[in-house]
Amino acid sequence: MNEWVRIAPLEDLPEGRGVRVDALGNRIALFRIGEAVYALADRCSHAEASLAEGEIYDDEVECPRHGATFELATGLARTLPATKPQQKYEVKITDGDVYLALQEAS
Ligand code: FES
Repeated sequence: MNEWVRIAPLEDLPEGRGVRVDALGNRIALFRIGEAVYALADRCSHAEASLAEGEIYDDEVECPRHGATFELATGLARTLPATKPQQKYEVKITDGDVYLALQEAS
């Protein structure tokens, strides 16, 4: 069962680049684009790399290791070598704070 976990004030998230956060044992890459925030699993579905360290291009992030791209809103892999989607986390912004729907990582 997911619970809403407060992560940070929206204004503390940098615009246009990723940030890694750890919450309830989950390693998450957060991306702020304007007033929207997207959250994907930080570890690339292809191999060991941090998507929070990737470059953002419009609505996608490019993995810094081999260059696969993932759609920020859905986590879908758009380009090889990744073929599996990134886990996506539900985000809400309430009273200026960013919350993620999470459960304890196993
Ligand atoms: S580790 Fe991300 S594309 Fe290979």
